[in-house]
Amino acid sequence: MFDYKWALKELETIQTLEQLEEVFQKYLGKQWSLTLAFKEMASLSPEEKKEAGKTLSEAKTLLNEAYEAKLQELSIYQINESLNKDLVDFSLEKSPYNIWHRSLLAEVRREAEEVCKSMWFIIEYGTDVVTKFENFESVNIPLSHPATEMQDTIYLKETDPRGEPLILRTQTSSMQNFMIKKYGVPLKAVVPGKVYRYENMDATHDTMFYQLEGIVVDKWVTIAHAKHMIEKLLSAILKKDVETRMRPWYFPFVEPWFEIDARYEITDPKTGKKTMSKWMELLGAGMIHPKVLEMAGVDPKEYSGFAFGMGLSRLAAVRYGIKDIRYFTNGDLRFAQSF
Ligand code: PHE
Repeated sequence: MFDYKWALKELETIQTLEQLEEVFQKYLGKQWSLTLAFKEMASLSPEEKKEAGKTLSEAKTLLNEAYEAKLQELSIYQINESLNKDLVDFSLEKSPYNIWHRSLLAEVRREAEEVCKSMWFIIEYGTDVVTKFENFESVNIPLSHPATEMQDTIYLKETDPRGEPLILRTQTSSMQNFMIKKYGVPLKAVVPGKVYRYENMDATHDTMFYQLEGIVVDKWVTIAHAKHMIEKLLSAILKKDVETRMRPWYFPFVEPWFEIDARYEITDPKTGKKTMSKWMELLGAGMIHPKVLEMAGVDPKEYSGFAFGMGLSRLAAVRYGIKDIRYFTNGDLRFAQSF
């Protein structure tokens, strides 16, 4: 009779998948021991058949289980073996340059977006390339107006359907008309994005910088709402109580208009003494001009609103005490690596 105990022992000693396959064929395969033992049963008496059948079935189950267990064990072993052998070393030698660093600008922009989202503002980015209509006329600046020159910018060869050259937007206010038309009123929306300007560059002016435009339109919106919301936004973004002041200013697309400055301080990390303390203009704002509402299809007798344009680069400078906003974009590794 077939001695399955011996077969079980043999299975235990097996080291490779090839050997396992051999043993499988030997005992469990079609032509081999166990199958043959079943065949041999035909010549037995009914009594013996019953007995032998039981033993053989048991043997078959046990052997199959032992085979499966061994197969699993050897397969895992083989996978690990080949993983170890073929292991690719992905680690590079440490670069002398620390290429990963925090971008303070991106951080402030993201946080500002989160604050605005929590106050139920819609967020849109718009495009850097805009028409002169969007950038100037839609916000009440006729193309012949001297205000266009104050911000004169980069013109593209491509033209709009009117034949006017496309430009790089000088202000995110270029999205006001688009946003009001797209979402209708009442509306609360912000547009964070890059703007390009003709500027005399200095520590607080660059030819490309980031702005965050805000537009709120509803019935009965007053300047008190504007002041309150802007102060809330500023202190949430700057995460500290910043001293602010309001000054009258002139923007053709708002009436009345004002600018908000924040106290900007720099402390020497070594001595702890303040080396600079002055006001920095952070944003322009005002009540949306009736003409701007009309151009976007909103009746200014029924609706009013306010708009503001914050300089995100300046906000980041005030928040982190950065001396010069050009550091954010000029690629100076000493600056980038210090965060
Ligand atoms: N667009 C203005 C600028 O770039 C800022 C501003 C936005 C002023 C909205 C008033 C209202 O300076």
